[in-house]
Amino acid sequence: MSKDIFKKCREYHDSKDARAQGFYPYFRRIDDSEGNHVICEGKRKIMIGSNNYLGLAQDPRVIEAACDATRRFGAGCTGSRLLNGTISLHEELESALADFLQRESVLLFSTGFFANQGALTALTEAEDAILCDRENHASIIEGCQTSVARLVPYRHNSAPALRNRLKRLPEDAGKLVVMDGVFSMSGDIADLPSMIEVSKEYGGVMYVDEAHSLGVLGPQGRGTVHHFGVNDDVPIVMGTFSKSLGSMGGFIAGSQEMIEFLKHKARCLIFTAALAPAVVGGVLKALEIMRSEPERIDQLWKNTRKMHEGFKSLGFNIGSTQTPIVPILIGSEARSFTFAQRLFEEGVFATPAIYPAVRYGEAIVRTSFMSTHTEKDLDFILEIFAKLARELGTFDDPVYTQPGRRRNIFDFALQEQDR
Ligand SMILES: Cc1ncc(COP(=O)(O)O)c(C=O)c1O
Repeated sequence: MSKDIFKKCREYHDSKDARAQGFYPYFRRIDDSEGNHVICEGKRKIMIGSNNYLGLAQDPRVIEAACDATRRFGAGCTGSRLLNGTISLHEELESALADFLQRESVLLFSTGFFANQGALTALTEAEDAILCDRENHASIIEGCQTSVARLVPYRHNSAPALRNRLKRLPEDAGKLVVMDGVFSMSGDIADLPSMIEVSKEYGGVMYVDEAHSLGVLGPQGRGTVHHFGVNDDVPIVMGTFSKSLGSMGGFIAGSQEMIEFLKHKARCLIFTAALAPAVVGGVLKALEIMRSEPERIDQLWKNTRKMHEGFKSLGFNIGSTQTPIVPILIGSEARSFTFAQRLFEEGVFATPAIYPAVRYGEAIVRTSFMSTHTEKDLDFILEIFAKLARELGTFDDPVYTQPGRRRNIFDFALQEQDR
């Protein structure tokens, strides 16, 4: 008899158990959005769980541009960019981004996930190695797993660890060093200057994912490579529209030669439908606003500083974040669910992140802040956190509930001790 492929589904109870206990925190239905607030179960909640850093997802000018694009080109492109799906707005956005990021060329993908997966897979071959920060986003890991190249994880944001890995690789292997510019869970900024220096010593090629740094770091929000002034040392930059630019989609930026290659070799581009006109029209407008209203980014940083200080003074452990992503370190998964549920009941929308998004036993409630949060919003949020600190504690010394089982998503690939 054949193996029953649905057995694992029948035996999967985690989500049902959490629901039964009344603290299931995922797939929460939003019935309406009003700026920084959402309506869930008939009640207003302040949103601190999104990546809408500049508040552009709700900007009326962006919404109008999305509607205009729909009226002009229709609801969808109904085909791949390669075939019937390229409209003038795609090319306009590619040029606008290339100009903004000071790159020769840009290629849009239907999601940021596809951009990472498509580029990493297409650019690497069997004799190559992808050196991957252990806290990189899942889409990078997916790209590494889809690629035929060897995956070489290195300790988070550590130039000495990268050197240790690089020096053991064959001299003639292609070496792609991939990292997030801002790490999506910890909020750390990549130490690009040190990583670039080490990478150069061994002939590595840098690839930086700017998903959480566009609109946040660098002049006009040009990202981590511009923040550090190392644009010329990073041949491949990836970005998304699903955060500061308030929509969805992704891109790869680099040389014209590389983009021409990806256009014809990246399966995640060729075999999927092109970004819908509404998305591209909206992103074009959001990019224009982001460039012309730098005060949004200034406000984002003002809000960020206030919240870092506020959480710390309440006694919460926010790790090593340097950005608007502020993890509240909790430790146990169950307690992170309880904490998020209590926040929700008090009118604050934030979600827990558990393994494999973070290391096992190091659950967080991930909060992130926007330029459009007002002083009153932020004070209200801190008041609620203060209340919960009194009620549940601050978890300032995260308890690793199962220390023996701490692991991260890379464990499948670790053949040797991480150094
Ligand atoms: C660092 C990073 N890279 C890539 C992605 C994927 O982006 P998208 O949501 O556009 O697929 C994300 C999304 O969460 C991310 O955080």
